[in-house]
Amino acid sequence: DGFCKNSAANFRGRSTETSAPDPCGPGRMRESLEGSCTKTKDPVQLQKRLGLFSGVALIVGTMIGSGIFVSPSGLLVRTGSVGVSFIIWMACGLLSLLGALAYAELGTMNTSSGAEWAYFMDAFGSAPAFLFSWVSTLVLKPSQMAIICLSFAQYAVEAFISECNPPIIVVKMVALLCIVCILFVNCYSVNLGMAVQNIFTSAKLIAVLIIIVGGAWKLFQGNTQHLSNAFNNPTPSMGVIATAFYTGLWAYDGWNNLNYVTEEIQNPSKNLPRSIIIAIPLVTVCYALINISYLAAMSPDEMIESEAVAVTFGNRILGLFAWIMPLSVTISTFGSANGTLFAAGRLCFAASREGHLLDILSYVHVRRLTPAPGLIFHSLIAGAMVLYGTIDSLIDFFSFTAWIFYAGAMLALIVMRYTKPNYPRPYKVPIIIPVIVLVISAYLVIGPIIDKPQLEYLYTILFILCGLVVYVPFVHYRMHPAFMNKVTIFFQMLFEVVPTSQMAM
Ligand code: ARG
Repeated sequence: DGFCKNSAANFRGRSTETSAPDPCGPGRMRESLEGSCTKTKDPVQLQKRLGLFSGVALIVGTMIGSGIFVSPSGLLVRTGSVGVSFIIWMACGLLSLLGALAYAELGTMNTSSGAEWAYFMDAFGSAPAFLFSWVSTLVLKPSQMAIICLSFAQYAVEAFISECNPPIIVVKMVALLCIVCILFVNCYSVNLGMAVQNIFTSAKLIAVLIIIVGGAWKLFQGNTQHLSNAFNNPTPSMGVIATAFYTGLWAYDGWNNLNYVTEEIQNPSKNLPRSIIIAIPLVTVCYALINISYLAAMSPDEMIESEAVAVTFGNRILGLFAWIMPLSVTISTFGSANGTLFAAGRLCFAASREGHLLDILSYVHVRRLTPAPGLIFHSLIAGAMVLYGTIDSLIDFFSFTAWIFYAGAMLALIVMRYTKPNYPRPYKVPIIIPVIVLVISAYLVIGPIIDKPQLEYLYTILFILCGLVVYVPFVHYRMHPAFMNKVTIFFQMLFEVVPTSQMAM
């Protein structure tokens, strides 16, 4: 099966091919990993399936998710002005492009999958790489999932209760239901998960096209009044601008997605930078046009009031076909959430294979060959986030944490220019680009803390540091409490899962 082989190859690939420190080296590996590491004689290679087109599709398909259908109102609320919002939308696109260009250098220099994990391992060593997998598994991936499912629910519910705010509990229940469905799909079969992904990606592109064409038609009729006087309101404070960036950057998140699967790209030194250079400007242009379309159909105040802008847009423009909008947005968000869980399962799987997370999380179902424990684990955390969070608070929380690690990747690039000057760099980014992104990320992380200190930010930092408390005994000193074996066996029997090293490949 694809998943099982790929993941095993992924692990072996890293052990044998990459310039990252050898994860099977002395002192790093736990007993349960031995089976996999000693089998490097006949490595199952990852299939290089992704060409330029699929590379672009993977980036675009991840970036366009819930954000463009939910964030425009939030951004207007935060900035209070159409003009400033628009500038922030464009600046977010530019920042994502600059960040991704730096990732293109990192990804062509270290061609193993796993993005930040692999770069941190190279530049800073095992502990920072561990902190990344710790935070990704416990916070980043589940919060992405929670935000997208909440957006799904908002649109699904809005489709039935239009033009009045639906009860929050109903939205949360629908979001939980969405998580359960996606969990089921991904535990049932890897192929089903991939099929859902492909079908749903096409649906989201149709939704984008409808909005752009509808808006162009409205503008053509002369509905330009909301676009004039764009800068009437006072300019917001710097801290508010940073949180407004969070809202915009959420819609662009996923710009680094191709770096997670570098091992599967054909000719990565060419196709990785090219995919980035095509995909991100494409998404930026789409987002600019969609924002203009929204304003062609409704006033900024109406946009702020609308819980689901795309539905309001559909009601104004599509007449009898207004139902298309909520339907395509629910399909788009469902697809995004599916892709996010798919990737989360992989990350969890890879990190635990390296001895960086609990062994049980890397096991796969004996018959279905899906990484069920990892998926269930992510879904449980995402479910808790759905119950206790709101879309906006989760987006702030997510972006704050994510940008700490994006900044880390920029620092890794700069550091490696000095510490690893001889690494091959088929694509070399002008050094000023990672420096600019690093400075902006520092502002994005520090700005909101200074503007409006919230305990959540402190908790996040404490949580990241807590990772070290776990790292030192359990990863560095390889402590393995005896009762953990019993726990592992219990869950193995409950879920019918086994380590992949015990499976015929
Ligand atoms: N940009 C996407 C959206 O607007 C979210 C992407 C989440 N990130 C990810 N790597 N899956 O919904």
